[in-house]
Amino acid sequence: MSGPLVVLVGPMGVGKSTVGRLLAERLGVGYRDTDEDIVAGQGRSIAEIFVDEGEETFRAVEKRAVERALAEHTGVLALGGGSVLDAGTRDLLTGRRVVYLSMDVDEAVKRTGLNAARPLLAVNPRKQWRELMEARRHLYEGIATAVVPTDGRTPEEVTRAALDAL
Ligand code: S3P
Repeated sequence: MSGPLVVLVGPMGVGKSTVGRLLAERLGVGYRDTDEDIVAGQGRSIAEIFVDEGEETFRAVEKRAVERALAEHTGVLALGGGSVLDAGTRDLLTGRRVVYLSMDVDEAVKRTGLNAARPLLAVNPRKQWRELMEARRHLYEGIATAVVPTDGRTPEEVTRAALDAL
């Protein structure tokens, strides 16, 4: 199957962009990020799309962005943290090399804190994170061909572990 060499999934703040860029550099390929594609295509921030149109519309836009990136990109592709919620988006990942960057709730709270720019964390981050991880962990695990834990690891260490997992 043509398409990205590797797709990175995992919760927001886990380091998909940082590790994705490092990984692409090591592999000598390009890096692409569907969140960036969406912002460029829509001419507004992800937070604005959430507020203006709601999450459901955002997920439909996101699925189209994932589909396009899978068809066009051959390097490292990072997806938005919630992309796995959509069954159609998950189907698009079948048969591809998907690395799940994971972290536990404590690490997530420590890394992201209260974050107005991330609509899902604008209030009570610990509770939000617990619910988010419970709802999504099995979805990430279900599509991943490799899991790379990031807790207590630097982006360099995570990149090395991801390379080993390829
Ligand atoms: C989201 C994650 C974000 C972004 C949006 C929703 C989520 O992407 O797509 O804010 O539902 O987890 P990152 O994982 O790149 O931060």
